[in-house]
Amino acid sequence: MPPPAATGLGYITNALAAPVSPAEAALRPLTFADFTGQPKTVERLQVMVGAAKQRGEALNHILLSGPPGLGKTTLAFILGHELGKNVRVTSGPVVEKAGDLAGLLTNLEEGDILFIDEIHRIPKTVEEYLYSAMEDFRLDIMIDQGPNARSVRLSLPRFTLVGATTRAGLLTAPLRSRFTLQTRLDYYDHATLESIVRRSCGLLKVPVDQGGAHEIATRSRGTPRVANNLINFVRDFAQQRANGKITQPVAAAALELLEIDAAGLDEMDKRMLRVMAENYGGRPVGISTIAVAVGEESETLEEVHEPFLIQEGYIQRTREGRMLTPKGYQAVGLKPHSGDQATLL
Ligand SMILES: Nc1ncnc2c1ncn2[C@@H]1O[C@H](COP(=O)(O)OP(=O)(O)OP(=O)(O)O)[C@@H](O)[C@H]1O
Ligand SMILES: [Mg+2]
Repeated sequence: MPPPAATGLGYITNALAAPVSPAEAALRPLTFADFTGQPKTVERLQVMVGAAKQRGEALNHILLSGPPGLGKTTLAFILGHELGKNVRVTSGPVVEKAGDLAGLLTNLEEGDILFIDEIHRIPKTVEEYLYSAMEDFRLDIMIDQGPNARSVRLSLPRFTLVGATTRAGLLTAPLRSRFTLQTRLDYYDHATLESIVRRSCGLLKVPVDQGGAHEIATRSRGTPRVANNLINFVRDFAQQRANGKITQPVAAAALELLEIDAAGLDEMDKRMLRVMAENYGGRPVGISTIAVAVGEESETLEEVHEPFLIQEGYIQRTREGRMLTPKGYQAVGLKPHSGDQATLL
């Protein structure tokens, strides 16, 4: 969450707010100008913000989707900042009852943003109340039970719902269709990540040279949050094992220590690939089977690990399950065998 002092805006937080570490908050861009990459999404948002400001109206509802750590929460705050409006943060699973939603919505001011993270996890019963809130800016809620039960209509300020999800496919069609803009964030390319690494090092006042920034960007799995986390560790390493400056050899040695390989694959990525090669000979296998074998939740594999492995061509998703590609074999030092058995390279 951006510190209010830095933005001049009274950001609202509450107990429902997703926790954000101070380190992450310090590096979070506050304006479009500060936010590098995602050119299509940024342009769409800038058009909408510009038009809404010109008309003096609330922004239309926006759904941001994409893998973790690419900037969904960051963009929600940038929208608030650019519009000069408050951002109230909550998350799908914590809005348990219609009353929780009513509490959030009635506390908003005209034009404020309600940011619902992990919106695909909002309970179905609450979701139905969202429909009329989003469309007609009203809530019909039942109070009391039995013979005294009656419906009360609450008028809401014109607010903007910004939803974020790592799994757009899990949103129901009625909810999805109520977002005027649905936009997806993609993994960042190398050049963009390198400039994000330089920016973060600058904010942290850590000296970094071109080789150092290049090395960290290469191993960040296309994800700014990963880049920032790696920078924090590499900074400590540079301070303890070198003269404090992040150079290519320093970054490479630090990231070896974290067991992050040259392509950015971490231990869990490699465990998945190894299980697919060694236990299933690269043949199609279901994600829940892989999850049991590697000892991780299948949701985590699907949201965090798999999208990157698919995008980079280590695994393929087929109707029958996930399949290992030759590149996937190579990443764990194995090669596909004609008899389907993996052998050591
Ligand atoms: N385009 C960018 N430029 C610079 N830093 C960025 C950018 N996008 C994200 N970051 C950094 O990455 C961190 C993670 O971003 P953010 O919290 O917005 O991701 P997210 O998509 O909301 O992830 P999650 O799905 O886990 O909630 C932020 O603290 C921010 O510092
Ligand atoms: Mg987020």
